[in-house]
Amino acid sequence: MEIAETTTSVREKVKAARSQGKKIGLVPTMGALHIGHIALIERAVQDCDFVVVSIFVNPTQFCPGEDLENYPRPLETDLEICEKTGVDLVFTPTTEQMYGTANLTWVTVDKLTEPLCGRFRPGHFRGVTTVCAKLFNIVLPDVAYFGQKDGQQAIVIKKMVADLNMPLQIVVCTTIREPDGLAVSSRNQYLTAQQKKDAALIYQSLRKCEELVGGGVTDTESIIAEMRQILSRAPAMEIEYVNILDAETLEQIDSIDRKVLAAVAVKLGQARLIDNILVDVGPQ
Ligand code: PAJ
Repeated sequence: MEIAETTTSVREKVKAARSQGKKIGLVPTMGALHIGHIALIERAVQDCDFVVVSIFVNPTQFCPGEDLENYPRPLETDLEICEKTGVDLVFTPTTEQMYGTANLTWVTVDKLTEPLCGRFRPGHFRGVTTVCAKLFNIVLPDVAYFGQKDGQQAIVIKKMVADLNMPLQIVVCTTIREPDGLAVSSRNQYLTAQQKKDAALIYQSLRKCEELVGGGVTDTESIIAEMRQILSRAPAMEIEYVNILDAETLEQIDSIDRKVLAAVAVKLGQARLIDNILVDVGPQ
């Protein structure tokens, strides 16, 4: 496994692989790798001949007051994980490499970035789309892998790639969960034992949505109320949003008659946790 810290070095190494006819896969991450990231890497290793993992805690996607400084950066362990998982190249740029001294160009996706996390993290998606556009331009992968865990992010990235005619395919992989249903996240390490127990309610609320839709309930307002009821069992949990939106357009809907994204964001102690599931009404 090779490690590159500069864009020039990544370009050279990827170019060499491509000249051998290899299919290039990219897994963008912010490090602190866990089984969720590993599932993405394994999928990339399965599908591609040359796998690049980027590890970069992207400052532009953090809002003021968020956990940029405290975000875990266990680089040595991350590199061991990459090596074991069969990664060919790890890209660990500095902020200077990615943004220079005065970045003036940004990529923004309208509309899809307005609801859910967009409402609570102004500027977040602009940071995500800009860094992903940069990574795609540096690595020029055939395929890039993202997790359903960050459902809105995956939708926004797919739209950016389509709208800007970027020549790569986006693969979205299923969310990896703890046995109690809690979506695995680098931010789970901020949780105490009690908070971890409370956090399991997030997936329970999403399952409730699935169960109600499966049972024929279509009224989003009443489903959201039941989901909130479940979350309220943990008084320490501060709900940011509970929402059910059209899975493609992220538009508000009153009655579920198509594939929807049920999504939850909460604050629990030091951690902000998000999760979602896709729910389909199935054949009518
Ligand atoms: P990060 O939070 O490190 O996540 C990297 C990728 O791993 C994302 O595509 C995310 O959806 C996926 N992932 C995280 N937890 C997962 C889980 N439990 N199951 C499945 N996939 C999971 O997301 C980012 O970094 C950044 O925004 C990034 C795209 C790298 C841009 O900076």
